[in-house]
Amino acid sequence: MTLVRPRRLRTTPAMRTLVRETRVHPAQLVLPVFVADGIDAERPIASMPGVVQHTLESLRRAAWAAAEAGLGGLMLFGVPREDDKDAAGTCGADPEGILNRGLRAVRDEVGDAIVVMADTCLDEFTDHGHCGLLDAGGRVDNDATVEAYVRLAVAQADAGAHVVGPSGMMDGQVLAIREGLDASGHADVAIIAYAAKYASAFFGPFREAVASSLHGDRRAYQQDPANRREGLREALLDLAEGADMVMVKPAGYYLDVLADVAAASDVPVAAYHVSGEYAMVCAAAERGWIDRDAALAEAVTSIVRAGADIVLTYAALELAARRSE
Ligand code: PBG
Repeated sequence: MTLVRPRRLRTTPAMRTLVRETRVHPAQLVLPVFVADGIDAERPIASMPGVVQHTLESLRRAAWAAAEAGLGGLMLFGVPREDDKDAAGTCGADPEGILNRGLRAVRDEVGDAIVVMADTCLDEFTDHGHCGLLDAGGRVDNDATVEAYVRLAVAQADAGAHVVGPSGMMDGQVLAIREGLDASGHADVAIIAYAAKYASAFFGPFREAVASSLHGDRRAYQQDPANRREGLREALLDLAEGADMVMVKPAGYYLDVLADVAAASDVPVAAYHVSGEYAMVCAAAERGWIDRDAALAEAVTSIVRAGADIVLTYAALELAARRSE
């Protein structure tokens, strides 16, 4: 027998391109964007170079640029004024709340040219920073929170979201939101469920991005990073409740969970390359310790290789611009 030589398929760039197993296309990338109330100019987020809190005007431009670049979608987060936060996160479901105004502005700008998604959660809007309503003991009350999520989702659909993204990890949130959307004339609005979402240290920079008020942690609702089987369980429950897409988050450190979910899912699977995963690459690159472009491309390629059909990433625009093959 002659020696087996896999290197034959690595000889030239054309050969490597021909046999490449994973290609990341701009149409499968979703750009997360932040819109803030009460600012009159874009505000940079120090821990996420290149990412800003938008005004409504700059949000419109960003949405247009994303559509022009051929991205698949936008995921909107709202940052209210500090004074507008309360224990119930009331401004989230207010049609004049910043996220709902942002959704209307984006849909007005891009129509159906790009898929417009909304983060359906309370943490940006509550003065305690938790993703839900607290009971008398200070614990997040699952069922009361789910009712509030339904109001959020309907308001977001009214404002023009094509897709709502419940991200608070409450039990039963997908089913309740589906019923709420259907009952309010929004049967065509899809749900992307943050299905397997872990209590991750890699959300750190996001908390700056949304000016989070959280003290403490989310371990009573987000998953323990040590649990793989539970990630699949959460995704299967969301599928049974009618999720149109399921998401694993964070992405790069959870490729095992992502592969499990991708193998079991009969709907598109998304993964969220989160703020900390992005910020670490930026920080090392600023010191000249890592090649930013190559590292971000490798990270996202690996996430797709593991089974993601869709990737949410702050690097979506630059990846789309540098796509070579
Ligand atoms: C909750 C939410 C969070 C992120 C997305 N949706 C924060 C959290 O769960 O604490 C994190 C995204 C990121 O880190 O990029 N609304």
